[in-house]
Amino acid sequence: MRILVTGGLGYIGSHTCIQMIEAGYHPIILDNLCNSKSSVLDRIKEVSGHRPLFIEGDVRDKRVLVDIFQQQNIDAVIHFAGLKAVGESVELPLRYYDNNVNGTLVLVSAMQEVGVKTLVFSSSATVYGDPASVPITEDFPTSATNPYGRSKLMVEECLTDFQKANPEWSITLLRYFNPVGSHPSGRLGEDPLGIPNNLMPFVSQVAIGRREFLSVFGDDYETKDGTGVRDYIHVLDLSDGHIAALKHLGKKSGLHTYNLGTGNGYSVLEMVNAFEQASGREVPYKIVERRSGDIAECWADPSKAEKDLDWKATRNLQSMTADSWRWQSNNPDGYPD
Ligand code: NAD
Ligand code: UFG
Repeated sequence: MRILVTGGLGYIGSHTCIQMIEAGYHPIILDNLCNSKSSVLDRIKEVSGHRPLFIEGDVRDKRVLVDIFQQQNIDAVIHFAGLKAVGESVELPLRYYDNNVNGTLVLVSAMQEVGVKTLVFSSSATVYGDPASVPITEDFPTSATNPYGRSKLMVEECLTDFQKANPEWSITLLRYFNPVGSHPSGRLGEDPLGIPNNLMPFVSQVAIGRREFLSVFGDDYETKDGTGVRDYIHVLDLSDGHIAALKHLGKKSGLHTYNLGTGNGYSVLEMVNAFEQASGREVPYKIVERRSGDIAECWADPSKAEKDLDWKATRNLQSMTADSWRWQSNNPDGYPD
């Protein structure tokens, strides 16, 4: 199958391209490089033996999309392209609604024009807001506390309405929990621009000496050790979840929603400890105020994906941290320009 992968040079997209190539799929990448570098393509080739076709362009550009669909004989789309920094979304909400919501609407309208009817969308556990209990199943109520989360929720709602009006389409909403880790080759990984927002890239930059210490956002939550608890999932398990979705649902019309998580929750301090063990480095930290908008705990009930997609996460915390460290220590400054 020939799959258009929007945002395919980003963190999750690049790992998914590798796994797709290994599974016999043919990814074609559209990315505007707003949060990635074209040298990622060389690494995909190096690790997988195949250099996917790359088109530098924007998902909001319908002309570019229609050209790709017409020239490349695309069977389905995995839509990763989006902006994801929660804090920035509060400062620049229009940028987020334009990129994430409008971008998806332009993409779907181009797909409709050419008759491509299978879409897998990158959603997020952020759509559960502050859940009443854990683990979280797909039928939990949804809500959002910031423009990034609202953009994901709006897209889910738009796609739900669209699929209802076009019942022959197959649309899959994959709600990711907290992706971490890297390809075990140490050649691909997460390469955030500027100061990392997320825990694991920050921890690895402290371990390598790029930052002095980690700020732990609060130790007075009602959790096992007072720090926030999340469902960290290895990025390759997440990637495999997309392939399972294409395999099981690609030809099955409907609106399908799945949690992609492990079902385990680890605290910030457990993550720091695991990273210290994997890296053999100390990760100094200071407890600071809670981060506004954070929740105490969040982890998935991933059983629906296991039942329907025959998928479950298999990589443990040790491989998540060891693979992150391999990437960070082999590429202390991330990808080359
Ligand atoms: P990323 O920033 O590494 O990758 C996104 C890619 O999309 C980048 O290469 C960027 O250049 C590209 N892009 C952005 N806007 C574009 C546009 N308008 N046109 C073309 N390309 C564009 O992010 P990621 O971590 O790989 O996340 C991928 C998707 O998964 C995003 O939609 C994100 O919201 C979602 N998600 C991520 C996480 C996470 O913690 N990483 C969690 C839940 C959901
Ligand atoms: N944390 C720190 N210090 C840091 C960064 C994070 O203590 O420097 C803590 C947070 O308070 C939280 C945990 O580490 O308890 C995880 O924080 P992340 O920022 O890594 O992840 P979040 O769960 O807050 O959010 C992430 C993505 C969202 C996505 C959500 C669910 O940033 O976009 O996972 O998928 F919606």
